[in-house]
Amino acid sequence: MTRPVRVLVADDERNLRELIIRELARRGHEVDGAADGANALERIREGSFDVVVLDMRMPQKQGIDVLRELAQMPEAPQVVVMTGFQDVATAVEAMKLGAYDYLTKPTKIEELDIVVRKAAEKGQLLRDNVALRAHAPGAAPFGGIMTGNARMQSEVLRLIERVAPTDSTVLVLGESGTGKELVARAIHEQSARAARAFVPIHCGALPREVFESELFGHEKGAFTGAVGTKPGLVELADGGTLLLDEIGEMEPDSQVKLLRAIETGTFFRVGGTRPRRVDVRIVAATNRDLAEAMKAGDFRPDLYYRINTIAIALPPLRERRDDVSLLANHFVRTNATYGVKRLSAAALAALEAYGWPGNVRELLHAIERAVILSKGDEIQPGDLPPEVLGTTAPAAASSGGSLEAMERQHILTTLRQVAGHRGKAAALLAIDPKTLYRKIIGYDIRPQEFM
Ligand SMILES: Nc1ncnc2c1ncn2[C@@H]1O[C@H](COP(=O)(O)OP(=O)(O)OP(=O)(O)O)[C@@H](O)[C@H]1O
Ligand SMILES: [Mg+2]
Repeated sequence: MTRPVRVLVADDERNLRELIIRELARRGHEVDGAADGANALERIREGSFDVVVLDMRMPQKQGIDVLRELAQMPEAPQVVVMTGFQDVATAVEAMKLGAYDYLTKPTKIEELDIVVRKAAEKGQLLRDNVALRAHAPGAAPFGGIMTGNARMQSEVLRLIERVAPTDSTVLVLGESGTGKELVARAIHEQSARAARAFVPIHCGALPREVFESELFGHEKGAFTGAVGTKPGLVELADGGTLLLDEIGEMEPDSQVKLLRAIETGTFFRVGGTRPRRVDVRIVAATNRDLAEAMKAGDFRPDLYYRINTIAIALPPLRERRDDVSLLANHFVRTNATYGVKRLSAAALAALEAYGWPGNVRELLHAIERAVILSKGDEIQPGDLPPEVLGTTAPAAASSGGSLEAMERQHILTTLRQVAGHRGKAAALLAIDPKTLYRKIIGYDIRPQEFM
């Protein structure tokens, strides 16, 4: 770093604060002071500090609270923590919240100077890295998250990079299809746990008993059908990362058990009496408004506060329209099964104008479908789903009629769209070509008629 490092010294002991300010300034840094936590946060929000030297014991706001708030701040400076030497627990907690390093008081100025310089370098490295990787054409940085959007880069990617190396619990928020699971994977992949397992579990898809036995495992005879013992997913995730997907759907009883496991670092298998210890990093995801769920009594406040240490909120696709063409072109490239294609200008315009309620997943499916449907090497507006074109005749809401009749009709429509190409039709219907073949025979359909 060629320019001076901008440092904020937050310490309530005036003499010490001024001494540190003077000494750091003498060593070429640009230094300012704050006398308590609240003031420090204020200064950090308005200024552009590279490094904060943070005393953990302060009035107004404790150092730990300052760290918590900084953890949520995408452009936050690096933090060097100062603790009393009998306060190792606080230091550990601080490191978990993403502090760069800690020094015990009384602090040697030479040592502080070195740590401040290193912290500033780290911050610079992170900034360069994010810009570089997000722009690298063709690369799939951040576990495949593609984006050229400034808000995604500063609020999502940078936050991922900041929290990934810590063991902090992360809550990933966003509408369906915005990429929450992708973010969870990116966090895992950029952590020291990358070589161990990433284990996702959907918290609402299973009945409570089954869910708990999946998550925590069970002992032989714990319930009817538990013929053997079975380790839970928390054990599979030991040393790695557990994704609690759709955590907003978790039943209250399971919430209690989960909270206890997080707080104690131990859990019981269903029917088990021996507490077991695992080292698991938890990432939770949901498209529900958990604050609302909490008010409605569906979600426990203690669990909420426990998992909401750091939240990463994914903006819906309609709020980052500049990503539509980037993602669409990316998906066209990665779906080249039927030859290399490209989007016509008109098709791209239609994609960019649409609202994407199903977000990136809906875009992905629209492109997959268009790639199959398109005849030449260019995707035309007519190859896109009708709702994207705004001419929604919603699937001709065929009410009435037997299930078989509807299925036959659906197959006919699809075959017509792909001019009788059975492979393409099967792909569109998301069924095996052999299954389609059987149905074609069964329903007495003649694909040649559509060619
Ligand atoms: N920025 C992105 N770059 C590339 N692919 C993406 C991006 N965001 C999402 N996707 C893709 O879109 C699909 C949906 O993403 P994902 O499953 O992570 O969403 P989600 O938020 O977990 O959705 P849901 O709430 O429905 O579970 C996936 O196939 C994912 O690979
Ligand atoms: Mg998901």
